[in-house]
Amino acid sequence: MREELIALLKELEEKDLEERAKGLPTSVRMRSITPDVGLFLNIMAKTSKAVNLLEIGTSTGYSTIWLALAAKENNGKITTLENDSRKVKMATEHIRRANLEDIVTIIEGDAKATIKSFDQEFDFVFIDAEKEDYIEYFDLVFPKLKVGGIIIADNVVSHSDSLKVYVDYVRANQNTQSVLIPVGRGEELTLKIR
Ligand SMILES: C[S@@+](CC[C@H](N)C(=O)[O-])C[C@H]1O[C@@H](n2cnc3c(N)ncnc32)[C@H](O)[C@@H]1O
Repeated sequence: MREELIALLKELEEKDLEERAKGLPTSVRMRSITPDVGLFLNIMAKTSKAVNLLEIGTSTGYSTIWLALAAKENNGKITTLENDSRKVKMATEHIRRANLEDIVTIIEGDAKATIKSFDQEFDFVFIDAEKEDYIEYFDLVFPKLKVGGIIIADNVVSHSDSLKVYVDYVRANQNTQSVLIPVGRGEELTLKIR
């Protein structure tokens, strides 16, 4: 990885930690994934050779950078969804600094409405928005996910109380195989098998 890119990721990681330590409200915080999850997403996207990636919950683009780096290696692209215009501005700047503008499309607006408007298929989806919406996101993206595609959902350990219903739901689906990956705040990895 280029030195400037490592420095940018480090800068974003430090800012996220600082905001958490200050106890800023979630509406203003970056709420980034942890660095090990960034690496996990990057490895999963590369090994699955994903070319049409979707991220639900961009925030300031930290996880987007990890995913976009994999998409770039796969000759693919990533679409990422965010409804907070202040965060869209910050993410746009971070993606520019990472030199990944050609790989990333940020769509501002409500993710549910945006997903409904898509007529393309995806092969890799990362869900990282509000926990109460996870099942709705799953239902919206699953028909647009290729067989063999994967959905990764963040926070299933850190928010196990509120996300148990999501984990139970995806595991009960006859068309999936799904497992908890205990990295970072807990990632539920769901494969579409048919
Ligand atoms: C946990 S943060 C995402 C962190 C980001 N994935 C990262 O690791 O750098 C969740 C984001 O989802 C956004 N969000 C929540 N509900 C949304 C919705 N309905 N449509 C679009 N974005 C939404 C929030 O504004 C917030 O920025």
